[in-house]
Amino acid sequence: MQCGLLDELEVCEHVQGTCVGEEPGGGGMPKVVTTERSLVVLEDVVKTYRMGETTVTALNHTDLVLDRGEFVVILGPSGSGKTTLLNLIGGIDSPSEGRVVVDGEDISRYGQRELTLFRRRKVGFVFQFFNLIPTLTARENVDFALELTRRHDGHGKLTAADLLAKVGLAERLDHFPYQLSGGEQQRVAVARALAKDPALILGDEPTGNLDFRTGKLVLEALHEVHVASGKTVVIVTHNQPLAAIADRVLHLREGRVSQIEVNAHPLEPEGIEW
Ligand SMILES: Nc1ncnc2c1ncn2[C@@H]1O[C@H](COP(=O)(O)OP(=O)(O)OP(=O)(O)O)[C@@H](O)[C@H]1O
Ligand SMILES: [Mg+2]
Repeated sequence: MQCGLLDELEVCEHVQGTCVGEEPGGGGMPKVVTTERSLVVLEDVVKTYRMGETTVTALNHTDLVLDRGEFVVILGPSGSGKTTLLNLIGGIDSPSEGRVVVDGEDISRYGQRELTLFRRRKVGFVFQFFNLIPTLTARENVDFALELTRRHDGHGKLTAADLLAKVGLAERLDHFPYQLSGGEQQRVAVARALAKDPALILGDEPTGNLDFRTGKLVLEALHEVHVASGKTVVIVTHNQPLAAIADRVLHLREGRVSQIEVNAHPLEPEGIEW
C-alpha cells in the first residue's frame, strides 16, 4: 500500500492503518498514518525559538510515527533538530505548532505540571552527560527513580539491585558516581531509566562521551532492554555505524525528516564497530 506519509521521504512504511491529518485543501493525501501499534505520533510539528529579534526554526513541519517495540536511531548533522525532536517526544519541551501524541496522550497541550507527570510515568532518559545525583550511590540513584514512580521495593516488581544487575553492575551497588567509570555511570543511567518501566526510552548521544568498549556495553544494555521487554528505544547519535542495530533509521536535515531507512535485518550490538 502506498501511503502518503511525508512525501519527501525516500522510504515509507507500508502498513494497514488509520489515516489522520488530511492535507490542507482536501487533497485527500494522508499526512500521518497511525495503527494500534503507534506509540509516538507527530503531526505537522514546528518548533521555533525566539532569540531576540530573530527566530530559529529547529523543527520545520515534521510528521512522524514510531511504533511500539521499535528500536530507532536518529542521525543528522549538528543543528538539524535531533535533540529538539527527542525533547518534544519526551515531554521536555512543547511544540510551537502541531500535535505530539505519545501512548494516546496529546502532550502538546500539556502544561509544565502535566508534562512532569507524563515524563515520570512514561519516559526513561539517558543523556550524553550522565545526570546522576553525585551524592547518591548507584543503588540510591536508581531507588530514587523507583520511588518517584512508586515502584519501590514492596510495590513494584524490581528492586534497584535487580535493575543494576541487568546492566551488569551487581558488583557496584554502593559506589558513588565518582567511583564509577564513564561507561558504568551511563549504565546506572540506563538502570535508572528502566526503573520507571517506561513506555519509551530516549537516549541523546548515550555513547557520545564514552570510548568504544564502554559505549558498546551501554548500547548492549539498551538493546537488551529492547529485546527482553519490547521497549521502544529512540537514540540520537553521531556514530553512523550504530544505525545498523536499529529497526529504522531517521535522517534529519534542517529540521525535517529527510529520509527513513528500514533495516530488514538489524545487527546485534556485538556486530558493529565505530
Ligand atoms: N533553547 C534554544 N534556543 C535557541 N535556539 C535553539 C535552542 N535549542 C536549539 N536551538 C537551535 O535549534 C536548532 C536545532 O538544535 P538541536 O539541539 O535540536 O540540534 P541537534 O541536531 O541536536 O544538534 P547536535 O548534533 O549539535 O546536538 C539549532 O540551530 C539550535 O541552535
Ligand atoms: Mg543534540
